[in-house]
Amino acid sequence: MKFEKNILCIGAGYVGGPTMAMIAHKCPQYKVTAVDINPERIEQWNSDRLPIFEPGLEEVVLACRGKNLFFSTDIEREIHEAEIIFVSVNTPTKTFGSGAGMAADLQYWEKTARQIRDCAQSPKIVVEKSTLPVKTSLAMERILTGDNDQVYFDVLSNPEFLAEGTAVQDLESPDRVLIGSHETERALKARKALVEIYANWVPRGKIITTNLWSSELSKLAANAFLAQRISSINSISALCEKTDADIAEVAKAIGMDSRVGEKFLQASVGFGGSCFKKDILNLVYLCRYYGLSNVADYWEGVVRINDYQKERFVLNMLNTMFNTLAGKRICLFGFAFKANTGDTRESPGIFIARQLAEEKAELVITDPQALENARIDLKDLDQDISYLDDPYKAAGKSHAIAVLTEWDVYRDLDYERIYRSMTKPAFIFDGRNILDHRRLFEMGFNVFPVGKAPLTHF
Ligand code: UDX
Ligand code: UDX
Repeated sequence: MKFEKNILCIGAGYVGGPTMAMIAHKCPQYKVTAVDINPERIEQWNSDRLPIFEPGLEEVVLACRGKNLFFSTDIEREIHEAEIIFVSVNTPTKTFGSGAGMAADLQYWEKTARQIRDCAQSPKIVVEKSTLPVKTSLAMERILTGDNDQVYFDVLSNPEFLAEGTAVQDLESPDRVLIGSHETERALKARKALVEIYANWVPRGKIITTNLWSSELSKLAANAFLAQRISSINSISALCEKTDADIAEVAKAIGMDSRVGEKFLQASVGFGGSCFKKDILNLVYLCRYYGLSNVADYWEGVVRINDYQKERFVLNMLNTMFNTLAGKRICLFGFAFKANTGDTRESPGIFIARQLAEEKAELVITDPQALENARIDLKDLDQDISYLDDPYKAAGKSHAIAVLTEWDVYRDLDYERIYRSMTKPAFIFDGRNILDHRRLFEMGFNVFPVGKAPLTHF
């Protein structure tokens, strides 16, 4: 079969994989391929067990795989054949040299740009999907046009706004699709080609176009704004715990103002995920680079409050459990950074587990999807940690349960049974405020929500 377009994505991770699957699903007339340097990942994309857990993804992949959706490790051949190349390789925070701990590590991204340049023998549209510091596309253009002036490359910025756990839904009906480009006639033609892909299923009014730098900056700023809402509500949760205010009531009252809106005001044990912290630190680094230290400090505060929220959670456990956790069995309900994903990157669970281990607590971790990643995240800890699928077994004999991820399954457990199996006095620290605190208290638990008065029997 002859396809209308040949689309490639380099980097088949949490962003590249689902995005390509959705394009293939919505556009049977295009051939869509995702490549990755990691052969294991590609093998998993081609198997019955996809490398990432994402509700609804398996159905989409199975419907297109082998028809117009392909996963491959042959990066060079695929670059050669593609007309449009999305780049979705990871851009972690730099761990070395100048900007360590703040700036984006662009080594994979640059390597990919060079690889595209070296393998291309016909014009390509190169689309930045990875979140990158502002003006990265300029650097990409320079690398691409370096010593391959036979082939023309158009560079577009098209940041992805999907959230994990709802990726399929977000890709299917996005709030907006953002495409940044230059304004030259050639660039506008490339932009039109990308708009046409999305227009197969996204209403035109939701596809917005900007200049390249606005697009790159919008992605960093959008994540900073989202994270800022969580740090704002979490900062108020600390004040609620000192007063008689209740964070759920306060959040409701704030969110009903239509100028604010009700979403993303859920107080928690802190935000995690691969993007928020990394992107804010990137923004902070950029501001410092341009001498805007007040602006940098402002946004850095969002990350500081998040660290504070995680620290506060552990300290609260320590203080209320009579200032010693040594030898006490503590069960973590959830380790993923949010519900409906197995992803644990930057999960508050990592920090909390490490702090508890430092206090010499005996840790038991349960999670419906993230245990494999949890094991990897904590493998350097000396002490034995139990990883159990069954929350009842995990909670048995423990002194405390800490709810770290808002999985639905934790809402509906038989807490009477759990209470009977625990060491007394039994504590529950609800880091997501998803449980019925009054009921738990009446069963005998000492209950510590976030941003609400504790319910204790002491
Ligand atoms: C990545 C970026 O981290 C993020 O900034 C951006 O917004 C979207 O892309 P994600 O998809 O979550 O996010 O990362 P990850 O799941 O780690 O996927 C990246 C993939 O790229 C990995 O599978 C990795 O093996 C692959 N990769 C990395 C390459 O194929 N080539 C490389 O040179 C480097
Ligand atoms: C985020 C952005 O939402 C998305 O647009 C972008 O493309 C990538 O980064 P993601 O990190 O996958 O997506 O998930 P998100 O739903 O934003 O949650 C991030 C963290 O914030 C999670 O740890 C979540 O539990 C926490 N959170 C979210 C809260 O603590 N309270 C809330 O009210 C909302």
